[in-house]
Amino acid sequence: MSDRYCVFGHPIGHSRSPRIHALFAEQCGQTMTYEAIEAPREDFVGAWRAFVAAGGLGANVTVPFKEEAYRVADVLSQRARRAGAVNTLVHGRDGRTYADTTDGVGLVRDLEAHGVTLDDARVLVLGAGGAVRGVLDPLLAAGPRALHIANRTAEKAVGLAADFQQEGDVTGSGHDALEGPFEVVINGTSASLSGELPPLPETLLAADGVAYDMMYAADPTVFLQWASARGARTIDGLGMLVEQAAESFFLWRHVRPDTGAVRDTLRHEL
Ligand code: ATR
Repeated sequence: MSDRYCVFGHPIGHSRSPRIHALFAEQCGQTMTYEAIEAPREDFVGAWRAFVAAGGLGANVTVPFKEEAYRVADVLSQRARRAGAVNTLVHGRDGRTYADTTDGVGLVRDLEAHGVTLDDARVLVLGAGGAVRGVLDPLLAAGPRALHIANRTAEKAVGLAADFQQEGDVTGSGHDALEGPFEVVINGTSASLSGELPPLPETLLAADGVAYDMMYAADPTVFLQWASARGARTIDGLGMLVEQAAESFFLWRHVRPDTGAVRDTLRHEL
């Protein structure tokens, strides 16, 4: 029987993860399966236990189970503990559940792959929800001069910045108080999903600024269109999706796939 992995979500129908991991497995010569499982909203724990009982070795976890997966873990990585949520579970040989979050490292690797320097940069992150909390630790570890979090609900940005004080120069505010320019602006809000744009000042981006949207779609998101019209270089979150998957794949298989090739394939399939 081949080794079994899956992604849990609800809904899960549109997940690209089975495709990505199938491409990784083929590329790296790994005999494994990776399926999408729609776990019941009220029983993620039961779904994970049943999967393991049936021989499952590991899983990705997406909305709405990332916090519950955090609680099911026996052993949490340091970055997972700081994120308060996990996207990767590993069923250990000792029977324990190991958990990690690979979203933040995925974002940082994708920025690196695009030649974007975070070291000493002034970085702005838009949004203060779970998606942003999940990436702050690796972003700060990349050594920005300063990282500012701006959110529609100001208190959430201020609170999130306070939680990460130990990791670097982090501040938080609402959108009104926003003052550019920033060399890197990362949209971590869910506004792109509904085609909305957070209110942004004209002075937001530095002359050679980079705009990154953690979302992706066949066409550029409204945020990337806004940034592009102001001369910024734009990057969507497709590469982050592939990089976070590669880090999960590495945790399970101890092999690193060639992410660029897989990103190109997915881009064509969008
Ligand atoms: P996620 O897990 O994707 O982070 P979330 O925790 O619900 O989901 O957070 C969504 C984020 O997108 C929040 O920062 C939210 O702002 P609020 O905290 O003020 O709700 C932000 N967001 C969603 N729609 C937005 C919009 N139209 N304009 C600006 N920000 C938006």
